[in-house]
Amino acid sequence: MAANGHRQVIAVSDPAALAKAAAERLLARIGANSGRVAVCLTGGSSPKRLYQLLATAPWRAKIPWDRVHWFIGDERFVSPDDPLNNMSMARRAFLDACAPAANIHPIPTDTVNPDEAARRYERILQSFYGAERLDPARPLFDVVLMGVGPDGHTASLFPLYPAIAETERWVVGVPEAHVEPFVPRVTLTLPALDSCREMLFEVAGAEKRAILTRLLAGENLPANQARSVGETIWLVDQAALPENFGGR
Ligand code: 6PG
Repeated sequence: MAANGHRQVIAVSDPAALAKAAAERLLARIGANSGRVAVCLTGGSSPKRLYQLLATAPWRAKIPWDRVHWFIGDERFVSPDDPLNNMSMARRAFLDACAPAANIHPIPTDTVNPDEAARRYERILQSFYGAERLDPARPLFDVVLMGVGPDGHTASLFPLYPAIAETERWVVGVPEAHVEPFVPRVTLTLPALDSCREMLFEVAGAEKRAILTRLLAGENLPANQARSVGETIWLVDQAALPENFGGR
């Protein structure tokens, strides 16, 4: 493990080890809370292996499904039956088989536009949290999972887009994406994502090495601006890790 500014970087061998390490951390956070647990999932391809692992017998048996609630950090503004829909990917990979339906909280995409979807999800989150203002001493989520895009985005917070500078709203609409898939997005903002006991990034594959090099050097990109009020952990596999990084 290596400290890198606001985060700890944990190097693992490959995507399978990364999924296992993420599952272990998730389980530890769930175990540390004896009450209602809130997990914010992420989209993209990186977390799929973790989601599939959670549905396998040894992991599935360790999760107190009745008291864990599952949210999503960003969504593509497409219907739930579209293959691009982030929460539907998580549902197929593990939630539908394991979690009570009432504990699955997708971002609605049947609204007139992404802004309306954002307003609705914000109300869902605020009602779950029980307040309209976030208290750093009482984080919204136990764990927030995150990924990194080729331009340094995370969730649907793209470089230089207004959403990254949002300080009041918990969720906003993003009319145009900066990278593929080019569909409008709905995203949690930094105040909402940061309100967690642990933020857990998963970064794997040689195609992530260039952006990871820039991020670990401290470039001011959205993935570097997202940081938990608690712990921020980056799980990185060997293929993604820059040559000279200390954690390698
Ligand atoms: C999305 C995401 C996005 C993703 C990164 C990494 O909706 O696309 O939530 O932020 O996490 O782009 O994506 P990959 O895991 O596919 O590389």
